[in-house]
Amino acid sequence: MSEHKPRSWYPETLAIHAGRRPDPTTGAVMAPLHLSTTYLRDGAAQPVAGYSYSRDGHPNSHTVEATLAALDAGADACVFSSGVAAAQAVFETLPRGSRVVATADSYYGTRRQLDDLAARGWLEPEYVDTSDTDAVARALERPTALVWIETPSNPMLRIADLAAIAKLTAPRGTRLACDGTLATPIGQQPLALGADLVVHSATKYLGGHSDLLGGVVVSRVADDAAAAIRERRSVAGAMLAPFDCWLLARSLATLPWRVRAQCDSALRIATALEGHPALRAVIYPGLAAHPGHARACVQMRTFGAMISLRVAAGRTAALAMTGHLELFATATSLGGVESLVEHRASIEGPNTATPDDLLRLSVGLEHPDDLLADLHAALEAVA
Ligand SMILES: Cc1ncc(COP(=O)(O)O)c(C=O)c1O
Repeated sequence: MSEHKPRSWYPETLAIHAGRRPDPTTGAVMAPLHLSTTYLRDGAAQPVAGYSYSRDGHPNSHTVEATLAALDAGADACVFSSGVAAAQAVFETLPRGSRVVATADSYYGTRRQLDDLAARGWLEPEYVDTSDTDAVARALERPTALVWIETPSNPMLRIADLAAIAKLTAPRGTRLACDGTLATPIGQQPLALGADLVVHSATKYLGGHSDLLGGVVVSRVADDAAAAIRERRSVAGAMLAPFDCWLLARSLATLPWRVRAQCDSALRIATALEGHPALRAVIYPGLAAHPGHARACVQMRTFGAMISLRVAAGRTAALAMTGHLELFATATSLGGVESLVEHRASIEGPNTATPDDLLRLSVGLEHPDDLLADLHAALEAVA
């Protein structure tokens, strides 16, 4: 079995075989866990097997990075201790004073990072509705180092046209990064659409079981920028620990099947809830009424497993509804096998643009009819 995969493999095969090979010393078919922080050097002080200190890289990061690069069809993947750490490395490798155009309703933690870097004079962010390609074009009239697109965005699930935006950034020498956390590499391939980088919070679908924090930057080309991101990880000490890499590798093996099942359930639930009298709106890119539906049909292989519901009776009813749900745990995060619900405005604080009647659902792997019955009962209780 070669460590390098042929590009023609399907995602299900890549998820299990890319970057993996039986351990040559023991014959173990599944990758062993290497907890050692330090590795032997020879008489010329050179690492005997390519590893020196686990903050810089270790066998378990190496294995999972190969699988992640293959799943996103990138040339280089670099894992981090969280999704935020991955994004931070991308931002901090930009030259001081760089202008960044970013999705206005991207994950609030990403905006917090950009605002923090702006307050310290490092970056100059401008937030735009990136589902409006003309707005991106207008923002690019000024020299810009990076365009950061989150699509679908969290939690409004807006869809940006990655291929059209890549046509704007490439001739200007502006780098295009996509936070693909909600779509996963199974649902969307930003690098194939022209993005230079794809960033995921591996805490979500990639990890898939709500038991590890992680992040990854996948680069289309293994260039100096990719090397700088890897170097930043070492400098900042943001490496993902061996056990978390091992857990992540184990989870990736089932990623395509988990994600597809979760997306199928989400489509079924969103379709069934659309038009419910207790809901002002069901926001889901798989619904024909969603403004980004046509674009999602072209750009995505699945519509994702996140649904945002706007409760007709408003904030109090939305908050009350979470208490009536039995199968959706009220908790932050998304992408695990268990379904979650969250009132995002409460989490994001007083300055949020997220409507206060909005509940964000992360659809898990429970039977969709059980989830639907749970939602119907909770909606009835607050109607
Ligand atoms: C879209 C998106 N990007 C990035 C992050 C940050 O990831 P992490 O929590 O792993 O740092 C999150 C977390 O919720 C997210 O939803």
